[in-house]
Amino acid sequence: MNRLNTKTLPRAWVAAGICMLMATAAWAQDNAKAALQGQAAAGEKIARAGSAGGAAACASCHGANGEGQAGFPALAGQHAGYLVRQLNQLASGARQNPVMAPMAKALSEQERADVAAYYASLKLSIKPVRGPLPGKKDDDGAWLVERGRWADGIPACAQCHGPGGVGVGQDFPAIGHLTADYMQAQVDAWNKGQRDAGPLGLMGAVARKLTAEDIQAVATYYQRLHGGAAPQAAPAKP
Ligand code: HEC
Ligand code: HEC
Repeated sequence: MNRLNTKTLPRAWVAAGICMLMATAAWAQDNAKAALQGQAAAGEKIARAGSAGGAAACASCHGANGEGQAGFPALAGQHAGYLVRQLNQLASGARQNPVMAPMAKALSEQERADVAAYYASLKLSIKPVRGPLPGKKDDDGAWLVERGRWADGIPACAQCHGPGGVGVGQDFPAIGHLTADYMQAQVDAWNKGQRDAGPLGLMGAVARKLTAEDIQAVATYYQRLHGGAAPQAAPAKP
Protein backbone atom coordinates (compact mmCIF):
# COMPACT_ATOMS: atom_id res chain seq x y z
CA MET A 1 0.00 0.00 0.00
CA ASN A 2 1.16 3.49 -0.78
CA ARG A 3 1.42 5.39 2.48
CA LEU A 4 1.48 9.15 2.67
CA ASN A 5 4.76 10.54 3.83
CA THR A 6 4.18 13.95 5.35
CA LYS A 7 7.89 14.77 5.22
CA THR A 8 7.97 14.70 1.41
CA LEU A 9 4.58 16.37 0.92
CA PRO A 10 4.67 20.12 0.41
CA ARG A 11 3.61 21.78 3.63
CA ALA A 12 0.85 23.77 1.98
CA TRP A 13 -0.80 20.55 0.83
CA VAL A 14 -0.62 19.09 4.28
CA ALA A 15 -2.13 22.27 5.71
CA ALA A 16 -4.85 22.26 3.06
CA GLY A 17 -5.57 18.62 3.83
CA ILE A 18 -5.86 19.35 7.54
CA CYS A 19 -8.19 22.28 6.81
CA MET A 20 -10.38 20.02 4.70
CA LEU A 21 -10.49 17.39 7.41
CA MET A 22 -11.44 20.00 9.98
CA ALA A 23 -14.11 21.41 7.71
CA THR A 24 -15.51 17.92 7.13
CA ALA A 25 -15.52 17.23 10.87
CA ALA A 26 -17.29 20.53 11.56
CA TRP A 27 -19.81 19.75 8.82
CA ALA A 28 -20.45 16.29 10.25
CA GLN A 29 -20.85 17.80 13.71
CA ASP A 30 -23.34 20.42 12.44
CA ASN A 31 -25.24 17.67 10.64
CA ALA A 32 -25.38 15.51 13.75
CA LYS A 33 -26.59 18.49 15.78
CA ALA A 34 -29.30 19.31 13.26
CA ALA A 35 -30.40 15.66 13.16
CA LEU A 36 -30.64 15.60 16.96
CA GLN A 37 -32.68 18.82 16.99
CA GLY A 38 -35.01 17.29 14.38
CA GLN A 39 -35.38 14.19 16.54
CA ALA A 40 -36.12 16.26 19.64
CA ALA A 41 -38.77 18.26 17.76
CA ALA A 42 -40.45 15.06 16.55
CA GLY A 43 -40.23 13.71 20.10
CA GLU A 44 -41.84 16.82 21.55
CA LYS A 45 -44.88 16.31 19.30
CA ILE A 46 -45.34 12.78 20.66
CA ALA A 47 -44.81 14.00 24.23
CA ARG A 48 -47.58 16.58 23.82
CA ALA A 49 -50.06 14.79 21.55
CA GLY A 50 -49.26 11.06 21.59
CA SER A 51 -48.09 8.85 18.74
CA ALA A 52 -49.71 7.64 15.53
CA GLY A 53 -49.54 4.08 16.87
CA GLY A 54 -51.68 4.96 19.90
CA ALA A 55 -49.24 5.84 22.69
CA ALA A 56 -50.88 8.48 24.93
CA ALA A 57 -49.31 11.93 25.32
CA CYS A 58 -46.34 11.38 27.61
CA ALA A 59 -46.97 14.79 29.22
CA SER A 60 -50.32 13.63 30.60
CA CYS A 61 -48.49 11.38 33.06
CA HIS A 62 -44.88 12.62 33.16
CA GLY A 63 -45.76 16.33 33.45
CA ALA A 64 -45.90 19.17 30.91
CA ASN A 65 -42.10 19.41 30.79
CA GLY A 66 -41.10 15.93 31.88
CA GLU A 67 -40.80 17.08 35.49
CA GLY A 68 -42.78 14.09 36.76
CA GLN A 69 -45.67 13.99 39.19
CA ALA A 70 -46.86 11.69 41.96
CA GLY A 71 -46.63 8.13 40.67
CA PHE A 72 -44.88 9.07 37.43
CA PRO A 73 -41.10 9.54 37.29
CA ALA A 74 -39.41 12.67 35.94
CA LEU A 75 -37.83 12.20 32.51
CA ALA A 76 -36.37 15.67 31.87
CA GLY A 77 -32.58 15.70 31.67
CA GLN A 78 -32.04 11.94 31.73
CA HIS A 79 -29.50 10.72 29.17
CA ALA A 80 -31.07 9.76 25.83
CA GLY A 81 -29.20 6.44 25.84
CA TYR A 82 -30.69 5.54 29.22
CA LEU A 83 -34.23 6.51 28.15
CA VAL A 84 -34.02 4.51 24.92
CA ARG A 85 -32.78 1.44 26.77
CA GLN A 86 -35.67 1.65 29.24
CA LEU A 87 -38.23 2.09 26.45
CA ASN A 88 -36.76 -0.90 24.60
CA GLN A 89 -36.87 -3.01 27.74
CA LEU A 90 -40.42 -1.96 28.55
CA ALA A 91 -41.39 -2.88 24.98
CA SER A 92 -39.60 -6.25 25.08
CA GLY A 93 -40.91 -7.26 28.50
CA ALA A 94 -37.47 -7.22 30.17
CA ARG A 95 -38.92 -4.42 32.30
CA GLN A 96 -42.53 -4.99 33.28
CA ASN A 97 -45.09 -2.35 34.11
CA PRO A 98 -48.79 -2.64 33.26
CA VAL A 99 -49.18 1.12 32.62
CA MET A 100 -45.96 2.01 30.82
CA ALA A 101 -45.22 -1.16 28.83
CA PRO A 102 -48.13 -0.74 26.38
CA MET A 103 -46.98 2.85 25.68
CA ALA A 104 -43.45 1.70 24.90
CA LYS A 105 -44.76 -1.11 22.68
CA ALA A 106 -46.89 1.36 20.72
CA LEU A 107 -43.80 3.43 19.79
CA SER A 108 -41.64 2.58 16.78
CA GLU A 109 -37.88 2.39 17.17
CA GLN A 110 -37.55 5.84 15.57
CA GLU A 111 -40.21 7.28 17.88
CA ARG A 112 -38.42 5.91 20.93
CA ALA A 113 -35.22 7.63 19.81
CA ASP A 114 -37.19 10.84 19.16
CA VAL A 115 -38.88 11.05 22.58
CA ALA A 116 -35.57 10.13 24.25
CA ALA A 117 -33.81 12.97 22.39
CA TYR A 118 -36.57 15.36 23.43
CA TYR A 119 -36.51 14.51 27.15
CA ALA A 120 -32.70 14.46 27.17
CA SER A 121 -32.73 18.01 25.76
CA LEU A 122 -34.71 19.32 28.77
CA LYS A 123 -33.04 20.49 31.94
CA LEU A 124 -32.48 18.17 34.88
CA SER A 125 -34.05 19.67 38.02
CA ILE A 126 -31.00 19.09 40.26
CA LYS A 127 -27.37 20.21 40.26
CA PRO A 128 -24.21 18.18 40.95
CA VAL A 129 -23.51 18.82 44.63
CA ARG A 130 -21.36 16.57 46.73
CA GLY A 131 -22.29 16.44 50.40
CA PRO A 132 -19.50 16.33 53.00
CA LEU A 133 -18.26 12.86 53.91
CA PRO A 134 -20.54 11.79 56.76
CA GLY A 135 -19.29 11.28 60.29
CA LYS A 136 -20.58 9.18 63.19
CA LYS A 137 -23.57 11.40 63.86
CA ASP A 138 -24.83 11.53 60.28
CA ASP A 139 -27.87 9.57 59.17
CA ASP A 140 -28.10 6.42 57.06
CA GLY A 141 -29.05 8.41 53.96
CA ALA A 142 -25.83 10.42 54.05
CA TRP A 143 -23.78 7.27 54.63
CA LEU A 144 -25.40 5.30 51.82
CA VAL A 145 -25.15 8.12 49.29
CA GLU A 146 -21.69 9.47 50.08
CA ARG A 147 -19.81 6.47 51.51
CA GLY A 148 -21.88 3.34 51.01
CA ARG A 149 -22.30 0.56 53.55
CA TRP A 150 -19.37 -1.69 52.94
CA ALA A 151 -20.27 -4.10 55.75
CA ASP A 152 -23.16 -5.16 53.47
CA GLY A 153 -21.17 -4.71 50.26
CA ILE A 154 -23.09 -1.60 49.18
CA PRO A 155 -20.95 0.98 47.35
CA ALA A 156 -21.86 4.67 47.67
CA CYS A 157 -24.74 5.65 45.38
CA ALA A 158 -22.64 8.71 44.41
CA GLN A 159 -19.91 6.42 43.12
CA CYS A 160 -22.12 5.31 40.23
CA HIS A 161 -24.84 7.96 40.08
CA GLY A 162 -22.54 10.99 40.40
CA PRO A 163 -22.43 13.88 42.89
CA GLY A 164 -25.94 14.72 44.10
CA GLY A 165 -27.24 11.79 42.05
CA VAL A 166 -27.21 13.77 38.78
CA GLY A 167 -26.30 10.70 36.72
CA VAL A 168 -23.17 9.75 34.77
CA GLY A 169 -23.34 9.09 31.03
CA GLN A 170 -25.92 6.80 29.51
CA ASP A 171 -25.48 3.91 31.91
CA PHE A 172 -26.01 5.60 35.28
CA PRO A 173 -29.28 7.56 35.44
CA ALA A 174 -29.97 10.62 37.59
CA ILE A 175 -31.65 9.51 40.84
CA GLY A 176 -31.21 12.53 43.16
CA HIS A 177 -34.62 13.93 42.18
CA LEU A 178 -36.67 10.73 42.34
CA THR A 179 -39.36 10.11 44.93
CA ALA A 180 -38.91 7.39 47.55
CA ASP A 181 -42.05 5.68 46.22
CA TYR A 182 -40.69 5.40 42.69
CA MET A 183 -37.26 4.27 43.90
CA GLN A 184 -38.88 1.62 46.08
CA ALA A 185 -41.03 0.42 43.18
CA GLN A 186 -37.85 -0.07 41.13
CA VAL A 187 -36.04 -1.92 43.93
CA ASP A 188 -39.08 -4.21 44.27
CA ALA A 189 -39.12 -4.76 40.50
CA TRP A 190 -35.45 -5.76 40.47
CA ASN A 191 -35.95 -8.11 43.40
CA LYS A 192 -38.95 -9.76 41.72
CA GLY A 193 -37.14 -10.05 38.39
CA GLN A 194 -39.53 -7.56 36.79
CA ARG A 195 -36.81 -5.16 35.72
CA ASP A 196 -33.57 -5.99 33.89
CA ALA A 197 -30.62 -5.72 36.29
CA GLY A 198 -29.01 -3.07 34.04
CA PRO A 199 -25.49 -2.87 32.60
CA LEU A 200 -23.31 -5.66 34.09
CA GLY A 201 -26.18 -6.47 36.45
CA LEU A 202 -24.84 -3.72 38.69
CA MET A 203 -28.06 -2.22 40.02
CA GLY A 204 -29.86 -5.53 40.44
CA ALA A 205 -27.06 -6.58 42.80
CA VAL A 206 -27.24 -3.34 44.81
CA ALA A 207 -31.04 -3.45 44.99
CA ARG A 208 -31.00 -6.85 46.72
CA LYS A 209 -29.20 -5.29 49.68
CA LEU A 210 -31.37 -2.19 50.14
CA THR A 211 -34.16 -2.11 52.75
CA ALA A 212 -37.25 0.10 52.59
CA GLU A 213 -35.69 2.22 55.38
CA ASP A 214 -32.56 2.64 53.25
CA ILE A 215 -34.55 3.92 50.27
CA GLN A 216 -36.51 6.35 52.44
CA ALA A 217 -33.27 7.59 54.01
CA VAL A 218 -31.58 8.05 50.61
CA ALA A 219 -34.54 9.98 49.15
CA THR A 220 -34.75 12.21 52.26
CA TYR A 221 -31.00 12.87 52.16
CA TYR A 222 -31.08 13.83 48.48
CA GLN A 223 -34.00 16.14 49.12
CA ARG A 224 -32.03 17.90 51.85
CA LEU A 225 -28.89 18.02 49.70
CA HIS A 226 -30.84 19.75 46.93
CA GLY A 227 -32.36 22.27 49.31
CA GLY A 228 -35.82 20.73 49.21
CA ALA A 229 -35.92 21.03 45.41
CA ALA A 230 -36.16 17.27 45.04
CA PRO A 231 -38.12 15.14 44.67
CA GLN A 232 -39.94 17.40 42.29
CA ALA A 233 -42.89 15.10 42.02
CA ALA A 234 -43.88 15.35 45.69
CA PRO A 235 -47.50 16.50 45.99
CA ALA A 236 -47.89 20.14 47.08
CA LYS A 237 -48.56 20.59 50.79
CA PRO A 238 -52.02 22.04 51.51
C1 HEC B 1 -50.73 6.61 31.62
C2 HEC B 1 -49.52 7.15 32.21
C3 HEC B 1 -48.26 7.16 31.36
C4 HEC B 1 -48.09 7.67 30.10
C5 HEC B 1 -49.13 8.31 29.19
C6 HEC B 1 -46.69 7.53 29.79
N1 HEC B 1 -46.03 6.95 30.83
FE1 HEC B 1 -44.01 6.58 30.93
N2 HEC B 1 -44.24 5.76 32.78
C7 HEC B 1 -45.44 5.62 33.44
C8 HEC B 1 -45.20 4.92 34.70
C9 HEC B 1 -46.24 4.55 35.74
C10 HEC B 1 -43.81 4.66 34.76
C11 HEC B 1 -43.05 3.95 35.89
C12 HEC B 1 -42.91 2.50 35.53
C13 HEC B 1 -42.20 1.72 36.60
O1 HEC B 1 -42.43 1.94 37.78
O2 HEC B 1 -41.37 0.88 36.22
C14 HEC B 1 -43.24 5.19 33.53
C15 HEC B 1 -41.89 5.12 33.23
C16 HEC B 1 -41.32 5.62 32.07
C17 HEC B 1 -39.92 5.54 31.73
C18 HEC B 1 -38.80 4.96 32.58
C19 HEC B 1 -38.20 6.08 33.41
C20 HEC B 1 -36.97 5.71 34.17
O3 HEC B 1 -36.45 6.60 34.88
O4 HEC B 1 -36.49 4.58 34.10
C21 HEC B 1 -39.77 6.14 30.52
C22 HEC B 1 -38.48 6.32 29.74
C23 HEC B 1 -41.08 6.59 30.08
N3 HEC B 1 -42.00 6.25 31.06
C24 HEC B 1 -41.33 7.25 28.90
C25 HEC B 1 -42.61 7.62 28.45
C26 HEC B 1 -42.85 8.20 27.16
C27 HEC B 1 -41.78 8.53 26.13
C28 HEC B 1 -44.20 8.38 27.05
C29 HEC B 1 -44.99 8.92 25.88
C30 HEC B 1 -44.91 8.20 24.65
C31 HEC B 1 -44.79 7.91 28.30
N4 HEC B 1 -43.78 7.46 29.11
C32 HEC B 1 -46.13 7.93 28.59
C33 HEC B 1 -46.67 6.09 33.03
C34 HEC B 1 -46.95 6.68 31.81
C1 HEC C 1 -22.17 -0.12 41.00
C2 HEC C 1 -22.92 0.96 40.43
C3 HEC C 1 -24.18 1.41 41.13
C4 HEC C 1 -24.32 1.77 42.46
C5 HEC C 1 -23.28 1.74 43.54
C6 HEC C 1 -25.69 2.21 42.60
N1 HEC C 1 -26.36 2.12 41.41
FE1 HEC C 1 -28.30 2.59 41.10
N2 HEC C 1 -28.13 2.10 39.13
C7 HEC C 1 -26.98 1.62 38.54
C8 HEC C 1 -27.25 1.36 37.14
C9 HEC C 1 -26.27 0.82 36.12
C10 HEC C 1 -28.60 1.72 36.91
C11 HEC C 1 -29.37 1.64 35.59
C12 HEC C 1 -30.10 0.33 35.51
C13 HEC C 1 -30.84 0.16 34.21
O1 HEC C 1 -30.29 0.52 33.18
O2 HEC C 1 -31.97 -0.32 34.25
C14 HEC C 1 -29.12 2.17 38.18
C15 HEC C 1 -30.43 2.60 38.38
C16 HEC C 1 -30.96 3.02 39.58
C17 HEC C 1 -32.31 3.45 39.79
C18 HEC C 1 -33.41 3.53 38.75
C19 HEC C 1 -33.55 4.93 38.21
C20 HEC C 1 -34.76 5.11 37.33
O3 HEC C 1 -34.91 6.23 36.81
O4 HEC C 1 -35.55 4.19 37.15
C21 HEC C 1 -32.44 3.75 41.13
C22 HEC C 1 -33.69 4.21 41.85
C23 HEC C 1 -31.14 3.54 41.74
N3 HEC C 1 -30.25 3.09 40.78
C24 HEC C 1 -30.87 3.76 43.08
C25 HEC C 1 -29.62 3.59 43.66
C26 HEC C 1 -29.33 3.89 45.05
C27 HEC C 1 -30.33 4.42 46.06
C28 HEC C 1 -28.02 3.58 45.27
C29 HEC C 1 -27.20 3.66 46.54
C30 HEC C 1 -27.73 2.93 47.68
C31 HEC C 1 -27.49 3.08 43.99
N4 HEC C 1 -28.48 3.13 43.06
C32 HEC C 1 -26.20 2.64 43.80
C33 HEC C 1 -25.75 1.42 39.15
C34 HEC C 1 -25.47 1.64 40.49
